[in-house]
Amino acid sequence: MILFGKTVAEGIFSEAKQIASDCSVRPGLGVVLVGDDPASHLYVGIKERRAEEFGFHFRKDLLPAAATEEEIIRVIETLNEDPDIHGTIVQLPLPEGLDTDRIIGAIDPGKDADGFHPETVWRFLAGDISAMPVFPSAIVELIRSVGQSLSGKRGVIFANSTIFGDIMYHALKHDGIDPMIIPQYEIAYQEDEIASADIIVSALGVPERFPRDIFKSGAIVIDGGISERNSEVFGDVASTGDASNIYLTPVPGGVGPVTVACLLRRTAELAGKE
Ligand code: GUN
Repeated sequence: MILFGKTVAEGIFSEAKQIASDCSVRPGLGVVLVGDDPASHLYVGIKERRAEEFGFHFRKDLLPAAATEEEIIRVIETLNEDPDIHGTIVQLPLPEGLDTDRIIGAIDPGKDADGFHPETVWRFLAGDISAMPVFPSAIVELIRSVGQSLSGKRGVIFANSTIFGDIMYHALKHDGIDPMIIPQYEIAYQEDEIASADIIVSALGVPERFPRDIFKSGAIVIDGGISERNSEVFGDVASTGDASNIYLTPVPGGVGPVTVACLLRRTAELAGKE
């Protein structure tokens, strides 16, 4: 069964709208976009369209690929000071050579809409569930949308970064799932774990890394990977093959739209804190 993100996203957009209508201010989202990567421009365009559709204020700061860290940080500082902006994101990936951690670290933690700022991540890992970053929040929303009891279910996480693996581990654990992180270099040795898992979360960015038929019947497979091959977009799971006995999020159209919805909900929550 293909688990489309659209329906789940609509529910979260409604929540965002409700939170926004209870705010004394109009929620504002600021996006910093560096360079001319077509996919990043496309994703930011979707965020802009959705923000405006829901009546949010939207500010977009475009910088050339040759911008220096100092120039980018100066723009972030103007967003930190902008009273109309409640949530700021820096669209990733940044052009090569820029220090992503330093740039994300310049965002006021009180305006950290993605939840990528180290202070937000520490808060979440220390047990503050409200600080869960938007990307894992979207994954959790999709898992919950299947409507199964998650308690005691066995999960596996494929991550291309230690920090994402750790965040996802805590996010799944919070829902009662018993998760296990499988590093990329161990995938080939963990076939039994993968074949017996109830819930699979993958965010590797390796096109079609897994065939659809390696997962057990009834497994919930959340494909958070996105990569390009010959100008075509792929997830970590094969785009073809039988998915009739698993729940599988498509790429595109799965985690992506839900992440945008979670981003607007977070922005509304940050605006509500004023
Ligand atoms: N690039 C791909 N996904 C994301 C996301 O969720 N946030 C940001 N800032 N950049 C991204």
